[in-house]
Amino acid sequence: MRVLIGGGSGFVGGALTHLLRSKGHEVQHVSRDPRAGVTWAQLVSKGLPTCDAVVNVAGANVLSPLRRWDAEYEAEVQSSRLETTRTLRDAIIRARSPPHAWVLLTGVGYYRPSLSQEYNEESAGGDFEFMSRLVRDWEGAARLPEETGRSVRQVVVRSGVVLGKNGGALKWMLWPFRLGLGGSLGSGRQPFPWIHVDDLSGILLHAMEGSTVHGILNGVAPCLSTNAEFVGTLARCLGRPALLPVPGGVLQALLGPQRASMLLEGQWVVPQRTLESGYRYHFPQLAAALKDLVS
Ligand SMILES: NC(=O)c1ccc[n+]([C@@H]2O[C@H](COP(=O)([O-])OP(=O)(O)OC[C@H]3O[C@@H](n4cnc5c(N)ncnc54)[C@H](OP(=O)(O)O)[C@@H]3O)[C@@H](O)[C@H]2O)c1
Repeated sequence: MRVLIGGGSGFVGGALTHLLRSKGHEVQHVSRDPRAGVTWAQLVSKGLPTCDAVVNVAGANVLSPLRRWDAEYEAEVQSSRLETTRTLRDAIIRARSPPHAWVLLTGVGYYRPSLSQEYNEESAGGDFEFMSRLVRDWEGAARLPEETGRSVRQVVVRSGVVLGKNGGALKWMLWPFRLGLGGSLGSGRQPFPWIHVDDLSGILLHAMEGSTVHGILNGVAPCLSTNAEFVGTLARCLGRPALLPVPGGVLQALLGPQRASMLLEGQWVVPQRTLESGYRYHFPQLAAALKDLVS
């Protein structure tokens, strides 16, 4: 396959690129940097390069502790997802020879946080705070008109927190844990929907290759855990204590209420359609996933 990846230079895009190349597929990135691939402007002016599948994993990082959450950052978080998705969708619509598959990565922030409600891919969402409405609009921006949709298979993967060695949440968590300064966030009772980056890449590849896969797939591990269980398992894998819970107020002061709520609240998300579509997880259990990543 020839695969075009928007945001392929990032944490998830890098892992997906590695997986695809290891299986002999050709990969081209769409990037803001002309040295890294096709630029978004070139996609508009020259159209879609010939390819079999298009994936969008572009988006300004939401949880970077190095950036303050203000109106400018919020606008960038939004436009980096909506504009890149629209640009790829429009290029697919205009392509003389469209790809077979169009895959978008969004997030489980679509579903309303709850300590008890369980969500599968059919569950309602997309209608409350910033991130949920953003996912609704993002997925809407990807939707192809019926005519194009008949020849291009569309898949949206709603991901949980992606755990990997080279980026994402774990990168920021490891150093306090290694110093013995780790602990649960807030009450620790909130669900922590997670996925190993190898499984997320695997699901994205499955979405491109599986000729009958379409619609929404939840990109989370099938064995759910709370934030406290996640923290306890990580501490055991590192052989360090995790006795210092981070109070909600401290997180809110550090990250702002928007981002703090992403960590202090969570959703019980079940990958029902992902499993029914035939995907088999490499890391369904948290302990094995963390052992693989931190050892
Ligand atoms: N990581 C997670 O835990 C997680 C969980 C759920 C959903 N997601 C979603 O998955 C996607 C990828 O996440 P990631 O962790 O791989 O992010 P990442 O490492 O920050 O990479 C995302 C890529 O997006 C591009 N990008 C960044 N800012 C941009 C902007 N302002 N305009 C256009 N493109 C921009 C960059 O590519 P260039 O520099 O080459 O342009 C970057 O390499 C995001 O949409 C994110 O919301 C991630």
